[in-house]
Amino acid sequence: MTIAIIGGTGLTAIDRLTITHSEALETPYGTPSSAYVFGELDGKQLVFLARHGNPHRLPPHKINYRANIWGLKQLGVTEIIAVAAVGGITAAMGPAVIAIPDQLIDYSYGREHTFFADDLEHVTHIDFSYPYHQGLRQRILQAAQAINLDVVPTGTYACTQGPRLETAAEIRRLAQDGCDLVGMTGMPEAALARELEIPYANISVVANWGAGIESEEITMAEIEANLKTGMHNAINLLAQSIQLA
Ligand code: HPA
Repeated sequence: MTIAIIGGTGLTAIDRLTITHSEALETPYGTPSSAYVFGELDGKQLVFLARHGNPHRLPPHKINYRANIWGLKQLGVTEIIAVAAVGGITAAMGPAVIAIPDQLIDYSYGREHTFFADDLEHVTHIDFSYPYHQGLRQRILQAAQAINLDVVPTGTYACTQGPRLETAAEIRRLAQDGCDLVGMTGMPEAALARELEIPYANISVVANWGAGIESEEITMAEIEANLKTGMHNAINLLAQSIQLA
């Protein structure tokens, strides 16, 4: 088993990772966001990829999601845990909360979103009823219990296009649609992993309340401060999830 972590905003590198080596890959779909970093977290091996590059330079709509996921497949990765900074929409999703979403709605557009684009003789429709791998989600939830970390065990993740944050009305619409969390990078990443049959789950770390919920304005300073606490917990959760694998 080879586990990969994809780190998002606030998780460009894992400080506690003992790095053994890194590998820069090319794929038929182009260049991944950064080199794949191999290392050990509490004695367990993993591969780490910085979704926005290292240093953080790629906005959500410029990420080459296909290259990132293809590269992981090339490396023989058998499981992906994706970490993402999000805005909170429903009451349980306050700043610094960690949630393990079980559903998503994709509002992004214009992204290269499938590996099944060019072979027109063979049209493939993956099943995506449950976008996150249930067994992997359960393991993450068990890990949270084992380290006494409070997490919200379900939720619907909305993927917006960005890079701007939403309007207050957009957040009201997302709430009406049944969304609990909003981020910009969850798709097409989850679907591409499914296309390549790699079990994939998401750990969402709430950085701020969605637009219009609490404050007049969302600042980057607020986002960064909440992510500090949230990502510290997320790394502990990752480490324990890998221990249980
Ligand atoms: N909206 C979308 N993506 C985000 C947010 C948000 O409020 N906060 C962090 N990522």
